[in-house]
Amino acid sequence: MAEKECQPPVLIDEAALARRVTELAAAISADYAAKQPLALVGVLKGVFIFMADLVRQLTVPHQLDFVAVASYRGTDTLPGQPQLILDVATDLAGRHVLLVEDIVDTGQTVSCLMQLLAERHPASLRCCSLLRKPERLRQTVTVDYVGFDIPDVWVVGYGLDYDQQYRSLPYVGFIAPSPT
Ligand code: PRP
Repeated sequence: MAEKECQPPVLIDEAALARRVTELAAAISADYAAKQPLALVGVLKGVFIFMADLVRQLTVPHQLDFVAVASYRGTDTLPGQPQLILDVATDLAGRHVLLVEDIVDTGQTVSCLMQLLAERHPASLRCCSLLRKPERLRQTVTVDYVGFDIPDVWVVGYGLDYDQQYRSLPYVGFIAPSPT
């Protein structure tokens, strides 16, 4: 499906996204006011728009870093074993670390990354995700800050892709399942 041929239906509109990001930033700012230094670690690529909007509303000092993971998912719905393809450049030891994701689907990526980051001896380690699919979770993962719990549909936009398309849609839309 070519991007220009189809505007996916809206699941979460721009206003709802903006409201929820503001709420998340306020909650994180309050929780980390006395927990410094704070490092946010975003998971590329899908997080890039959410992360940019979130950090611009934080009222506490923070630094940013990124990781990237290859799950070899392509357009399939099931991920493979995540592999780290970009690591942080920051020494996380003694820092309060907040892992930031666009979506927790099966939970495999967050689970692996939380284990990996815990080995870096952070002062604390928490996780924030804009979206979470409770029906798809296959791992027990604690997501400390959740923007929206969503149904089991393929979501695109606001950073998320379908076969690398749709990331720059300003809203979260969904790709309807093909009729079988
Ligand atoms: C997506 C998303 C998460 C992961 C969640 O990344 O950004 O990192 O999948 O899935 P899980 O909970 O089943 O592990 P994706 O592999 O699509 O790469 P991208 O961020 O570069 O689009």
